[in-house]
Amino acid sequence: MISIGISCFYHDSSVCLVKDGKVLLAVEEERFSGIKHDSSFPDKSINWIIKEFKYSFEEIDEICFYENPLIKTHRIVSTCLSNFQIIDAFKFAVKGIEQYIKLKRKLRWLFSSAKIKFNSHHDSHIAYSYLTSQFQNAAVLSVDGVGEWETTVLAKAEGNDWEKLKSTKFPHSLGMFYSTFTAFLGFKPNEGEYKVMGLAPYGNPKTYIHKFRDIIYPSEKGIFKLNMKMFDYHKSDEVMFTSELSKHLGLLPRLPNEELKQEHKDLAASVQFIYEMYFFRLLKELHKQTKCDNLVLGGGCAYNGTANGKISKKTGFKNVWIPSAPSDSGSAIGACLISHYRGRNKIRLNNTNPYLGPQFSNEYIGGLLKYFNNKLTYKKLSDEEIIDLVSTEISNGKVVAWFEGRLELGARALGHRSIFADPKNPEMKNRINKIVKKREGFRPFAPMVKETKTSTYFEWDKEVPYMNQIVGVRKQFRDKLPAITHIDGSARIQTLKNDIETKRVYTLLDKLEEKNGFPIVLNTSFNVKDQTMIMDPQTAINTFLEIGLDTLVLENYVIRKK
Ligand SMILES: [Fe+2]
Repeated sequence: MISIGISCFYHDSSVCLVKDGKVLLAVEEERFSGIKHDSSFPDKSINWIIKEFKYSFEEIDEICFYENPLIKTHRIVSTCLSNFQIIDAFKFAVKGIEQYIKLKRKLRWLFSSAKIKFNSHHDSHIAYSYLTSQFQNAAVLSVDGVGEWETTVLAKAEGNDWEKLKSTKFPHSLGMFYSTFTAFLGFKPNEGEYKVMGLAPYGNPKTYIHKFRDIIYPSEKGIFKLNMKMFDYHKSDEVMFTSELSKHLGLLPRLPNEELKQEHKDLAASVQFIYEMYFFRLLKELHKQTKCDNLVLGGGCAYNGTANGKISKKTGFKNVWIPSAPSDSGSAIGACLISHYRGRNKIRLNNTNPYLGPQFSNEYIGGLLKYFNNKLTYKKLSDEEIIDLVSTEISNGKVVAWFEGRLELGARALGHRSIFADPKNPEMKNRINKIVKKREGFRPFAPMVKETKTSTYFEWDKEVPYMNQIVGVRKQFRDKLPAITHIDGSARIQTLKNDIETKRVYTLLDKLEEKNGFPIVLNTSFNVKDQTMIMDPQTAINTFLEIGLDTLVLENYVIRKK
């Protein structure tokens, strides 16, 4: 049974290929198109996925779509009608139905013999998160902007199935709440939320916290409501908040290039504080209802690592699983896993591997490098030689771009398209921010650490394989690891196991421990500000030539500028 999963038309379009319940490939369309959070139909990803395993379009048995476009259109039209936006209701009804017909026609045309299955948005989130976990039972929270109607779903999973316990409906949404303030603070919604999270520790939540009593409030058990006088996202495609919000806060919305003042930092701190308050309220209710030790998180809000890092302290959950792409891109996988597993008495295959995208051979890279002979010097080395050389360079303060194996799925670089640097170097944060990443100076950098050594350096003793939990750096190491320690003493860790896909980087951490004293490396995604993560060697080389990186590793090639 060969299934293709598709997620598109909202944000983070993606495609995956699943064979007999095993996820073989997955990629976000933005990695091909270069458009951040690309929402278009993923033609490029589909073509790649078909070619990669030399399948023909006719061999695909089923197409699993991540949500139900007709129910989504119903929500959009109903919301317009309830706001007396009759013309908009008509416009969106026509647009939604047209898009649905076009989608079905296109899928039928591409995959002539495949069955087309539409799933619910939150079931796809839940399926991706739960069915890729190792748990046989779990409480599941899917917390998101919006699906068809639902914005948050609380569920209980057992075996290969789950039942919904409770949900909140649009427009009341924790994801939309966070995105609205992301827009208010001058960042791009659905993209800049992690900037708000990074800014929060610089502010004092007390400045604005009392104002939030009139913005969001608790309703029935665990659930919340937003004061819709302050928000406009349910009426408009372009504006997320009303002038009422600005008046109520006594603060003007920040323009994208405006200086970040203390009041903006204080607002970010309040937003994060309030988000956490309602997030933990939901989790406490979920724990009460399920009486389960295991928690699985899905939906876009599951990227909020600051909140996630406090789950075991603030709630009764002991074990937490958050996959690498909990936002809509992972839902393509979720939609396929529903078809293979939900309600079926099948043994679940291990689908935790996030390295599912394109890969490039040494032969391909060698051929490509010949075109850059006038600008680059390069040599092909063994894994052992590369690890020895790169660990020395990192220890000597060099910044190294590292490209190997299949591209990661999800927003974080997990060691296959990464920039590595010395976590001990106090200058490194500024250097990478200014020269390499060309991004805002307040944003922290993350450490990658050998899993067995996590609790030595961090106030944490569990695995965090996909950087979705922010934890404390042990006090005695905060000054020693300044490049990865945020202003509040926290770090967004990635714990690394010695697996097939991570063996080379794990060995690099071993060598760093030997040479540098710490089995830790500063790890940030290989891309520059406002660009998508690098997918292919050609873009890697072009970026290397443009920015202030010292060394580029492409598989077994070590490359320097002339
Ligand atoms: Fe979603």
